[in-house]
Amino acid sequence: MVAAPMTSNELWLARSRAAVWHPCTQMKLHETQPPVPIARGAGAWLYDFDGRRFLDGVSSWWVNLFGHGHPAINAAITAQLALLEHAMLAGFTHRPVVELSERLAALAPGSLGHCFYGSDGASAVEIALKMSFHYWRNRGSPEKTGFVSVAHGYHGETLGALSVTDVALFRDAYGPLLRNNRVAPSPDARLAAAGVSPREHALAAAGALEAILAGHGASIAALIVEPLVQGAAGMAIHDPAYITRARELCTRYGVHLIADEIMTGFGRTGTMFACEQAAVAPDFLCLSKGITGGYLPLSVVMTTDEVYAAFYDDDVARGFLHSHSYTGNALACSAALAVLDLFRDQDVIARNRDRAATLTRLAHPLVAHPKVRNFRHLGMIWAFEVDCARQDFAHWCFRQGLERELLLRPIGRTLYWMPPYVIDDGEMALLAERTLEIVERA
Ligand SMILES: Cc1ncc(COP(=O)(O)O)c(C=O)c1O
Repeated sequence: MVAAPMTSNELWLARSRAAVWHPCTQMKLHETQPPVPIARGAGAWLYDFDGRRFLDGVSSWWVNLFGHGHPAINAAITAQLALLEHAMLAGFTHRPVVELSERLAALAPGSLGHCFYGSDGASAVEIALKMSFHYWRNRGSPEKTGFVSVAHGYHGETLGALSVTDVALFRDAYGPLLRNNRVAPSPDARLAAAGVSPREHALAAAGALEAILAGHGASIAALIVEPLVQGAAGMAIHDPAYITRARELCTRYGVHLIADEIMTGFGRTGTMFACEQAAVAPDFLCLSKGITGGYLPLSVVMTTDEVYAAFYDDDVARGFLHSHSYTGNALACSAALAVLDLFRDQDVIARNRDRAATLTRLAHPLVAHPKVRNFRHLGMIWAFEVDCARQDFAHWCFRQGLERELLLRPIGRTLYWMPPYVIDDGEMALLAERTLEIVERA
């Protein structure tokens, strides 16, 4: 008997199973729910080896801004490739990293004129935490070693970042390795009691934050917060008043404000940076994900002259000696410059407003659906909880999405859309209609 030929998908699945350990995955689950081998991407779509397509409703883990295979970003990387792919950033510098730093400083809130680069979001968080602690030490306050984070917040999976992350499933196994930080209540509007407005709830959460800072500010280096949207908490949106108040409190109690805009940055919440909606500038701004349009790993921590000056010294040990091999990678910086060009030349933020109005309109049947709770929207993020008894809702929904040409990746019972900014009217209609079908089957 002649064996049936392996489809291309099957071939890549078999090889992947044997060789690749996937992130954020219980690998045994792949026995029944195999990953999807992706052959190529174009615009808002990903294609497998068998010719099936999937609308990237989550921007490939929140990184993609302008679709897959964008000609301008492709061209920028290709042009850079002809000149320099990478040179170490200790002792050297290059055009893309200089230009990117200058342009980010001009765009970011406040005066964050000093850019320190990492690779992924978590590396930016590590840098910000270490830099804050080291600032206080250099300034003669070595007792400021603690951090405050926000309940249900997420800042990445490396040990420092995980220490300020409040997701039990990711933390618990590593508890003995993590620092115990103080956790302030979340301003998440879903947690507001009946009759309490999102703003009142946010201000109450800020009140609890004040109690922590007033009691322990002397030993706290920084507060780390995801402004406006706690992504991994299930796209938990809060009123900007929380961030405005947090800024005031940090200033009053001598604590740094670290804004983790790794997900919210680059237009995702409807402004270039979420902090703008609270009219504040942090002491440290962490950026990654969309910075390269979802092409290459790059992160940056932006900070003030004052922080920079605390490290500027004849004593080497007072410098910030942190490093990663790929810091300031020239190809990644060139992709980031192309992304900033698109923002500048295509009025992206204003065009997203129109796009968002269309998708919100298309979502009306979902908003009114009896199984849908807490429908919310900010910028290019939409989210809601689905009333469904299935324990495996997230996995089930992911599979249901794939059957309908959608890449959806719920967090618990929270279904969300975070599409690339190039999604067109037809694609938005498809996303809304097919998501509704799934909710109806849930
Ligand atoms: C707010 C926030 N911070 C940090 C991270 C960690 O980024 P990375 O996965 O690139 O390490 C993420 C990732 O989802 C995030 O959403």
